[in-house]
Amino acid sequence: MSCNALDRLRSDKTRTVGELSIRTKLLEKAATLDDVILMGRGDPDLPTPKHIIEAAKKAIDNGATHYTHVRGTIELREAIAEKLKRDNNLDYDPENEITVTVGAEEAVFLSLFGILNPGDEVLVPEPRYNSYDEAILMLGGVPKVVKCIPEENFRLTPERLEANISPKTKAISLVNPGNPVGMYDPEQVKELCQIAIKHDLIVISDEIYENIIFDDTPHLSVASIPGMRERTITINGPSKSYMP
Ligand SMILES: Cc1ncc(COP(=O)(O)O)c(C=O)c1O
Repeated sequence: MSCNALDRLRSDKTRTVGELSIRTKLLEKAATLDDVILMGRGDPDLPTPKHIIEAAKKAIDNGATHYTHVRGTIELREAIAEKLKRDNNLDYDPENEITVTVGAEEAVFLSLFGILNPGDEVLVPEPRYNSYDEAILMLGGVPKVVKCIPEENFRLTPERLEANISPKTKAISLVNPGNPVGMYDPEQVKELCQIAIKHDLIVISDEIYENIIFDDTPHLSVASIPGMRERTITINGPSKSYMP
C-alpha cells in the first residue's frame, strides 16, 4: 500500500491501522456467544461437499502445491468459462478474459485497481458490503454511497442511480443477489444497465451469491444484457455456492 493510502486510512478516525477495529472486536465477541447469528460475513454454515474436499486433498497429495499460471491454470479457467456459459449465458474466453483470484475479495480489489484513477467516483448502493469502500479508498477513489430505502426494498432505483452520477463517476458496484439486502429482479437490473450505458459507466457485477435465492426470481448476469459485456467486470466464486 502506498504511503498516501496509509496516511489517508490513518487520518480517517472511523478506521484503525495496527489495532483491531470495533468490527473485528465484535466478531471475536460474537464467536464466544451461543445462539448469536453473525451478520458480518457471508459465511454459509453448511459443510463443503465431500467430493470437493476429496479433490482438494488429492490435488495436494499429487503435488499441486506450487505457483500456477498468473491467471490460474488453464484447466480451471476453461471450467469457469463452461460454467459461465451454462449457468449465466456469458461467453468469456478462458485464454484472456478470465482471471482466477484468491477469493472474490481479491477480484474486487483488482477490478477497481484496473479501472480507477485518483478522484474517480464509484457508486456504492447502501446497505452494502463494505469491502468495496476500503478498496476504492486505498486506490485514491471516492466511494459515493447511494442510500437505498426500506420503502423501495433497499433497491437502487434508476432515479437514485441517475441522481448520483457526476462527471467523475467511473463505475457502479452492483452486488446481486445482494449482501445484505437480497435480490433485484431481472427487469430492475436491465433498467439500471440502461443508465450505465447512457452515462458510459463500468458495472462491477458481483454475482457471488447467485445460488442463494429464496424465491423463484431468476438471476440475471449483467454482462449477458445487450450492450453490457464491454462495460462489465463479472465477479463470482465458490465461497458461497459450493454447498450440498
Ligand atoms: C458481496 C461479496 N463480494 C465478495 C465477497 C468476498 O468473497 P470471497 O470470500 O470469495 O473472497 C463477499 C464475502 O462475503 C461478499 O459478500
